[in-house]
Amino acid sequence: MKKILFLTLSALCLTFTSCAKSNETPRVIDNKDNSLTITRIDEDEKAIRFNKKFDGFNDVTIIDTAASTKKNSVAVNLSDYSDKQVLLELKCDIRIDDPKNSNSELIWIINEIASNFPQLYRGRIQSGKWITISENLFVELGKNRSLYISPVGLPKDAKIYIKNFSLKISGDEIGQNAMEVKTWTEAGSIKEKYKGIFDYFGIAVTYKEELSKPEVQKGLAYQADCITMGNEFKPDFIFNWQQPQTFTEFTGKDGRAYKVPSVPPKFTTVDKCLQICKDNGLKMRGHVLVWHSQTPDWFFYENWGLNNNKTLVSKNEMAARQEWYIKTVLEHVADWEKKNNNGEHIIFAWDVVNEAASDGANASHYLRGADTSKWYAVYEDVSFIVDAFTFANKYAPKDVKLCYNDYNTYADNKLNAICKIIDAIQAEPKARIDAVGMQSHMKIDYPGTKAFEKAVNTLTAKGLNVQITEIDIANGKATYNSTQLKKVYKDYFELFIKCRKTADKKGIEGVTVWGINDETTWLNAMQEYKGHTQYPLLFKNKNYICKPAFYGVIEAAEEK
Ligand code: GLA
Repeated sequence: MKKILFLTLSALCLTFTSCAKSNETPRVIDNKDNSLTITRIDEDEKAIRFNKKFDGFNDVTIIDTAASTKKNSVAVNLSDYSDKQVLLELKCDIRIDDPKNSNSELIWIINEIASNFPQLYRGRIQSGKWITISENLFVELGKNRSLYISPVGLPKDAKIYIKNFSLKISGDEIGQNAMEVKTWTEAGSIKEKYKGIFDYFGIAVTYKEELSKPEVQKGLAYQADCITMGNEFKPDFIFNWQQPQTFTEFTGKDGRAYKVPSVPPKFTTVDKCLQICKDNGLKMRGHVLVWHSQTPDWFFYENWGLNNNKTLVSKNEMAARQEWYIKTVLEHVADWEKKNNNGEHIIFAWDVVNEAASDGANASHYLRGADTSKWYAVYEDVSFIVDAFTFANKYAPKDVKLCYNDYNTYADNKLNAICKIIDAIQAEPKARIDAVGMQSHMKIDYPGTKAFEKAVNTLTAKGLNVQITEIDIANGKATYNSTQLKKVYKDYFELFIKCRKTADKKGIEGVTVWGINDETTWLNAMQEYKGHTQYPLLFKNKNYICKPAFYGVIEAAEEK
């Protein structure tokens, strides 16, 4: 009997609570768009009372921090979202009544790793006054995080009042329609989707951290037709940062003999990269022969800079050095391909010259100047570029594409400067140029598909194809939003498809993304983005999880 009565009472009790709750907004709302909204802070029996009348409002949460047994009474537990990248959007009206101070410091904070407590809001607010907070923050939540009001800055006996609380959490793996988590070898393959659209799809990598790892090779072989080495084929690397000590003679185009290193540069890493490409059915874009950066200064100095010589060599001597360098690198690759790959090319295109146009180009000056380019300092005109395409044509196989590569190619003045460079190369009968590399380090809101299309049309009108050589899309100072990045990637790839090369039309023949996963992007080392993490690529974390941006690229091909 006693037992029955107890059961009935508890049933009644249950009915009552569920009735009361059914009128309330649920604590978590699934927005069905990869986002959830949390409508209340966590309960704390001792310190928090919900839905109270206060100050003329009916639904105020009243918090008596002194009564709480917890360290952080005003908290929202985020442990359900451990290890996820999320956008948090916090909105609430809040008032703090502080009996001692006329204002107190309010900090909404996340307990992150020791050195980094991401803050959603920090400000001094006047005691007894309501303020409205509307803040957002993109964070990668570690394990067992929570968002809470930091007790630092708040006196013990302060009362906190909150109304209209909402914390929206958006992310790729959030909510009912959460995107399935797939690694780059589990999802579709970009290279397969773009077969018959472009000649190739490529990804830039580094040797030590990426390409040398078997699991990375597997992913690259599955997703891409080709790779670009981030550093390993650049002059600094090829010279192995070692100033030559012994010399032989090389006859320059002026018929005179000049001193060049007798010990050829070390090609150990180059050969390893070529072998990995061969073993995994990958091709490579060669990057880069002539560049103002990542090239030793002593390359340009008399006596190869020995005895601290810092006098620039003559134009003729530099031309001989340039020819020797281009010949040495191209012949090494050709020899390797002959010996190890039946003469079939691994490297199907070379960036012969990189970034020679001036950022501030105008009608009277269009080349990067002597302040940043030793090539220009020696030549003081465009002939080092024309020479480079002449020598590349002389030593490269005829079916290997020769490219001029640059950034910001969609800015009008830069585009004009690049056109002048192309004109100069095309005016030399012994030179050959096949394509222009548009690096395409872009921003979420720049340059936009219109300016991009105009640049492609301008370059193809020169009778050249276009290769997108280094695409990545920075969120810049804006908060990263994975859905937005997906759309932007999709828009650009739709444009690339529209502008693709066909049998009767010059156009875009291939696209390379500058890096595999966000964690390794070069953009996070840029001063310009200090304090703003960049998420510019198609995959994320060490497992190479496909981001929405990856699906944007896939969808552009599927919906073609
Ligand atoms: C330029 C170069 C690349 C690389 C990037 C930054 O775009 O062409 O080789 O150095 O800068 O990573």
